[in-house]
Parts: sequence; C-alpha cells; structure tokens
Amino acid sequence: MPTGTSDILAAVERLRAGGVVAFPTETVYGLGADALSERAVARVFALKGRPSNNPLIVHVSGPEMAARVVAPGAFSEDALRLTRALWPGPLSIVLPRAAGVPSIVTGGGPNVAVRCPDHPVTLALLLAFGGPLVGPSANLSGHVSPTTAAHVREAFDQEQALVLEGGACRGGIESTVVSLLAGDARVLRPGLIGAGEIGRILGRQVEVGVSDTGGGAGGALASPGLLSRHYAPRTPAMLLARAELEETLREEPWRSAAVLAFSPLPAEDEDAAGTVHTLLMPAEDVEYAGVLYAALRQADALGVERILIERPSGTSEVWAAVLDRLRRATAE
Ligand code: TXA
Ligand code: MG
Repeated sequence: MPTGTSDILAAVERLRAGGVVAFPTETVYGLGADALSERAVARVFALKGRPSNNPLIVHVSGPEMAARVVAPGAFSEDALRLTRALWPGPLSIVLPRAAGVPSIVTGGGPNVAVRCPDHPVTLALLLAFGGPLVGPSANLSGHVSPTTAAHVREAFDQEQALVLEGGACRGGIESTVVSLLAGDARVLRPGLIGAGEIGRILGRQVEVGVSDTGGGAGGALASPGLLSRHYAPRTPAMLLARAELEETLREEPWRSAAVLAFSPLPAEDEDAAGTVHTLLMPAEDVEYAGVLYAALRQADALGVERILIERPSGTSEVWAAVLDRLRRATAE
C-alpha cells in the first residue's frame, strides 16, 4: 500500500514518543529519530550497533531547518549556493554545529552533517514532524545499506522501527558528504554528485578525501573512510578484474560462488568448479549504482561460499563512488 497521510501521522507520533521510523530517500532508506532528543538518537545507535564516534547525518526539510542545527552564521554563502543548486538531493554538507544539537549526533565532534532528502514521503514526514531527524542508513552497522522497505524489515521489526514504504530507492548509493569547514570544500564520501559538479557551483577547486586536519576533533571519526570494511555482505567478497576473476573461478576449489559481472561468463567457467550464479550488472555508472546493493543482497542470500565482483573500469566520478563502496564491501 502506498504511504498516505495516516501513515505519516502515525510516524510523527512514533517520533514524538522518542521512537524510530525508517524512511525512504532517493539514495537509501534511513533510520530516523528526533535529532534534538539525545534519548531517541541513542536508540538509533543501539539498534544499528553503531560505534558512538561515527556521526549521524541530520535530515532537514530545507535550508531554513538546516540553519537551525548549524552554528549561528555558519550557513555560509557556499552552503547556500550548494543547497540552492542541489537540494533536495543526495548531498550532505558538514558545518559547525549549533549548541542545541546533542553531541551524541556528531559523535562528540564540533560539526554536523545536514541533508535535505529528495523523496516526497520523507519531505512530508519532515514537514509534519516540524524538526530535524537523524538518518543513518537503515542497516546494521557495517552491512549493506537498504534500498527497499523489505530490506529494512529484514534487519528491524515493527517494534524497533516503523517503516514508511517509499518504493525502491533511485540513487542506490549514499549521499556525497562535503565538508565546508574553515572555507575549505572537501568531499569526505564520494557519491552521485561529484567534486567536479560541486566545484562548478562554488567556482573553485574541491578536494577529495580526508585532510589530516579536517573533522575528527573530540574523538569523532573524520570521515567514513576510517571504517575500511563497510557496506559489506556477510559472504566473503572479492573485487577482481575480469581476467583475474575468470582465472580465480577456474582455479579455486569452491563449491559455489556468486558473480556480479558485466557479461556472461564463458561456459567452461560456469561449470568449472561447483555452482556459479551470475548476476549481470548494468554497463552504465548511474544504473550500476542504482542496483548495486540489491545485487549484493541477492548474492548474499544465495548461501554461496564467495561473492566475486568484476571490477568496473570506468573512470567517471560516479564510477569512483561505486568503486569506493566496492572496495569497502570487499575489504578484509
Ligand atoms: O544517503 C545518505 O546519506 C543516507 C540516507 C539515509 O540519507 N544516510 C547515510 O547515513 O548514509 P550513514 O550514517 O549511513 O552515513 C553517514 C556518513 C557516515 O559515514 C559519517 O561518518 C558521515 O556521513 N558523517 C556524518 N556526520 C558527519 C560529520 N559531522 N562530519 C563528517 N562526516 C560525517
Ligand atoms: Mg551507513
């Protein structure tokens, strides 16, 4: 059933009581709670099993609500330019936090990430609730992010999180996280919006990656990059160039494997060792990102010994964001 007004009202009631509501966005589903309630946010950390030094993104209905959670005057001209061009959309902006934001939200650090999600259900929820919501991806910490309501329900029951149905997420990978601290613009987590596009809007060069001095104060992680294994299926997974992948399939003694590949495997590899399940992936970057997590979950559910992923060779910024997720999904 599509989400209606009564579902939104039930969700608002749950949030006002300090409870948790999973909401759809254009990237992945989020696990929402009142960002200004320490107790509600603590529940989200507990449900996910998330390390307390990994900060949460605060979801807002627009720039006005964002200005309420950042330090007075910190919503800079750069922030305004980005939000005018890209919100609602898959861009989280890191700025100094307002005193009213509980430090649990920011992992103890002085900065807060804000984002306005592009999904009608969640925009309606934010407006009806009338305040900011934390929204980490609605999965157990370290696991693959959910791109459907059914994925969320696999991890959390109705008591733990009321799930708002919003269909399959279009984007498929998490938002780009850009830091605008101290006049610097730096992408901390790559996503569908690239540093090139951000740079064109700001009219200057945007760095990519974690600076030695950026973020990190007060024990908070400077960036998700410090968690090398992340977005990971339960099954051990490997990222391999096509030739290596075919050779590995021929030579390793596994009884079963799932392969995410761009084209069918040669027949001899299909029956070389044991059972090989091939999931064909799109050749185009945005489409690939859109189906990646569903494919990883499908491969995981097959109960195979290994997941082998054909390494994309594309060089666009979207491919770079996809590769970031693939490296973390296959990290030891
Ligand atoms: O697309 C998304 O961003 C999704 C949807 C639900 O909005 N949310 C999401 O949240 O991916 P989460 O918690 O799974 O990832 C947020 C990332 C974390 O890895 C965290 O390190 C980084 O954003 N982050 C959050 N607050 C930050 C801050 N104050 N400074 C630096 N990085 C921050
Ligand atoms: Mg996450």
